[in-house]
Amino acid sequence: MGMAIGAAPQSQAWSLIPQRPTLPSLRQAAAGCQACQLWKNATQTVFGEGERQAEVMLIGEQPGDREDLVGRPFVGPAGKLLDRALEEAGIDRRKVYVTNVVKHFKFEPRGKRRIHKKPAAEEIAACRPWLDTEIGVVKPRVIVCLGATAAQALLGRTFRVTQRRGEFVESDLAPLVTATIHPSAILRAEDEDREAEYARFVQDLGVVAKALRR
Ligand code: URA
Ligand code: SF4
Repeated sequence: MGMAIGAAPQSQAWSLIPQRPTLPSLRQAAAGCQACQLWKNATQTVFGEGERQAEVMLIGEQPGDREDLVGRPFVGPAGKLLDRALEEAGIDRRKVYVTNVVKHFKFEPRGKRRIHKKPAAEEIAACRPWLDTEIGVVKPRVIVCLGATAAQALLGRTFRVTQRRGEFVESDLAPLVTATIHPSAILRAEDEDREAEYARFVQDLGVVAKALRR
């Protein structure tokens, strides 16, 4: 593969994208993706899920243990918390498309458990065609990046979720783009902080709910 110095490597995944992609044809193509190493140890590709007409796209980091086994995004503990927060914020779950910047679970075995590992920049870049095409097909009004991995992949490496969460930022990706913390970070928070973290998360989603009503 020829590559200019300084240019981003072209992901092999681009060659798998159907000419006129639909969500079902994309999902099917992504099931066979081997554009980075992560498919090898994971159970399956976990593609995004939701209506093509979804107004909101929520973008996480990568599937977790549960998602890897079930084959659907945000069905584990973080997903449960997310569902509850969306409802509390007044966002109809049926209007939401959920996906991840990386479509295979990256983990390290620790005894019988599989511990989540942060995806590398090359893996995020390799997987990007799937996300870019999902965004192109769904054309959401609002994109919400969940956590630093998604936010920095989509809004730049210097983006700081902690400083800019809950505000709309300039981006070509969608008319409205924002970021907040990852629901897993709330689950990992110390007991005494968790309730406040959750409340702030709902508050950030509330900003999205309000924008959707306009
Ligand atoms: N965390 C994510 O970022 N995505 C999922 O799908 C599940 C947990
Ligand atoms: Fe392909 Fe993404 Fe899976 Fe890597 S993580 S093999 S790029 S679907």
